Amino acid sequence: IDELLSEGVAGKRVFVRADLNVPLDGTTITDDGRIRAVAPTIAKLAEAGARVVVASHLGRPKGAPDPAFSLASVARRLGELLGDSAKKTEFATDTVGESAKATVAGLGDGEVTLLENLRFNPGETAKDDAERGVFADELARLADLYVGDGFGAVHRKHASVYDLPARLPHCVGYLIAAEVNVLRRLTEDVARPYAVVLGGAKVSDKLGVIDHLLEKADRILIGGGMAYTFLRARGYEVGSSLLQEEQVPVVREYLARAEKLGVEFVLPVDVVAAREFPDVAAQAPTEPVTVPADAIPAEMMGLDIGPESGRLFASKIADAATVFWNGPMGVFEHPDYAAGTRAVAQALVDSSAFTVVGGGDSAAAVRILGFDEKAFGHISTGGGASLEYLEGKTLPGLAALED
Ligand code: 3PG
Repeated sequence: IDELLSEGVAGKRVFVRADLNVPLDGTTITDDGRIRAVAPTIAKLAEAGARVVVASHLGRPKGAPDPAFSLASVARRLGELLGDSAKKTEFATDTVGESAKATVAGLGDGEVTLLENLRFNPGETAKDDAERGVFADELARLADLYVGDGFGAVHRKHASVYDLPARLPHCVGYLIAAEVNVLRRLTEDVARPYAVVLGGAKVSDKLGVIDHLLEKADRILIGGGMAYTFLRARGYEVGSSLLQEEQVPVVREYLARAEKLGVEFVLPVDVVAAREFPDVAAQAPTEPVTVPADAIPAEMMGLDIGPESGRLFASKIADAATVFWNGPMGVFEHPDYAAGTRAVAQALVDSSAFTVVGGGDSAAAVRILGFDEKAFGHISTGGGASLEYLEGKTLPGLAALED
């Protein structure tokens, strides 16, 4: 992008594919990290006199307009964050329709418009190349140049991520450049010991990365909902905890392979459990109990790692030289089940290792729990994207920008 800026972009329509897929409570943005992360790219372009057309997806609407997934409140926040860098920040109420065309045609130098959610158009996510191509052609008519900076979406083979760059002169923005630099440090010449902390609900989302990390990491710490499938694979009863029974054989194979390779799997030794899933929206008080991980009562579900596990995980993080963390340790959105996630975040803050927090959820968790972002080596804006990068997969949105 610096090269592009030095060539001059004044008066040019520059399409910036961002990932502004932020958590919303109604129309209130609960974590604006992704907007702040891409703002410098947009600001630089606007300051250089470009007419900036920003586009993103939000959530998973079904290929048609849906007010619950509107980017309108994101446009307002983007305008606030850009401040004087942009002469004006507008919002188009569609992606390639009359509003988008008129707003883009009316853009002056140094002005910005955010298009409505790209996924309101079925062409954005279509499996069929031709269908995506038609949508990409329509998007291409709105711009002269393309800047790819939606790191969180680079693992998606979507029209605006994969097909559009082929239709316009393109480059990567500051965010993607920074993210890739960091992730390289986790794949090439990693400082050891290398500890990986994985959490989140579903073990199936993480199988690929675990498979790959067995060859790379020295220790893998498992918490969150996915831990119960691991505990089950160790032969424990897990009560009514989240369990992906069909993955138990796969996990068992990983545990056996890890032993052969000398990779340490660290599982919770205790868990905070309750009879029911907590009402997060109401923040209603619950009746949590701490139980050993191998003795979860049949009628109870584990909702966080316990205090002993928190200390164990912290000790495994403390003497690592590199730490990658993806996925909360429990239902951190409810105060009764936030301690495990807090303990892991604190351990990363206290460690002198190179620490990377990857993933929308864990990145939001550290901010929502009140940690200072600067206390971490890097907080990635990509969840699935950073995991697939670490898996060694080719990411369509990066491949499309490589030339
Ligand atoms: C994310 O939050 O991981 C990205 O914005 C991609 O969203 P998606 O999983 O709905 O494609």
